[in-house]
Amino acid sequence: MAILCYEITGSSQPNARSTTGAEDGHIGAVLKGDHQEASAQLYSELAANRLAMFLGIPVVVGVPARRGSEDVAMRFAALRAAEAGMDIYDFTEEDRGENEEDDDDAEVPQGVYRNTGHVRAMSALCQKYPFEAAAIAVFDLWIGNEDRALNFKGQIRGEERGVIFALDQGSSLLACRSTIDNSLEELSDSAYPSFHPFQKLVNARYCGAMVERVQSMPDWAIEAATVYQDTVGNVILPDQYQCYEALRERKKILGGLVDRVLF
Ligand SMILES: Nc1ncnc2c1ncn2[C@@H]1O[C@H](COP(=O)(O)OP(=O)(O)OP(=O)(O)O)[C@@H](O)[C@H]1O
Ligand SMILES: [Mg+2]
Repeated sequence: MAILCYEITGSSQPNARSTTGAEDGHIGAVLKGDHQEASAQLYSELAANRLAMFLGIPVVVGVPARRGSEDVAMRFAALRAAEAGMDIYDFTEEDRGENEEDDDDAEVPQGVYRNTGHVRAMSALCQKYPFEAAAIAVFDLWIGNEDRALNFKGQIRGEERGVIFALDQGSSLLACRSTIDNSLEELSDSAYPSFHPFQKLVNARYCGAMVERVQSMPDWAIEAATVYQDTVGNVILPDQYQCYEALRERKKILGGLVDRVLF
């Protein structure tokens, strides 16, 4: 698997103290914060990212970020993937249906997700990266992410292994609905979410392995990813603990959810 790199921007200068040639440089990022439509977007991006890093889910790395001391609002900086020169299929673009022949669906299984198009490409991607696709799908069901369609990219063409990566977990966890209370209500529902763009396209054995991986994630690690000893954007500490508890409960129902939604 090729390593996903992030994009160095502008020019770098020698770091004055470095004795080994380190440079001071800049990395491109997409900066996100809380929003009317997603009052807990910042927290949810951050917590989901830390969970994903622990579990080895291929999502772009993101970090808390802020500009100098005068602007105190924290942002979530999703580091920009270095895509230049790589043949990456952009599933984040609206599918205008130009490459799909609707009348010939022989290659895709029944019951695939069609609402956002890219059906053939999605099928090809899941075939080329079966483990990663399973990992992303199971993870999304665990964190209550209904918004994976249009939020991933990957190299499909060619025989050799390339990269596949998911981005934007800003509509998961406490931001899976516009308010925190409604989000917690959804998270406590064992029938939520009810669909996933990779449904019918993933491998059962790999999904099973990923369910086991989530279920064996220790409580201390879930807590470290979800509970901060501080308010994060609009999310106060008691809400963070509720998110932690919801994820512990969802571990128990994850196997059934995967069976119902993905197969
Ligand atoms: N880390 C990244 N690397 C490369 N491209 C990115 C990255 N983050 C975001 N993008 C691009 O920017 C677009 C917008 O980012 P993102 O999906 O996080 O924003 P959003 O406000 O949640 O949008 P939406 O609600 O429409 O999904 C993505 O669809 C993708 O094309
Ligand atoms: Mg998006």
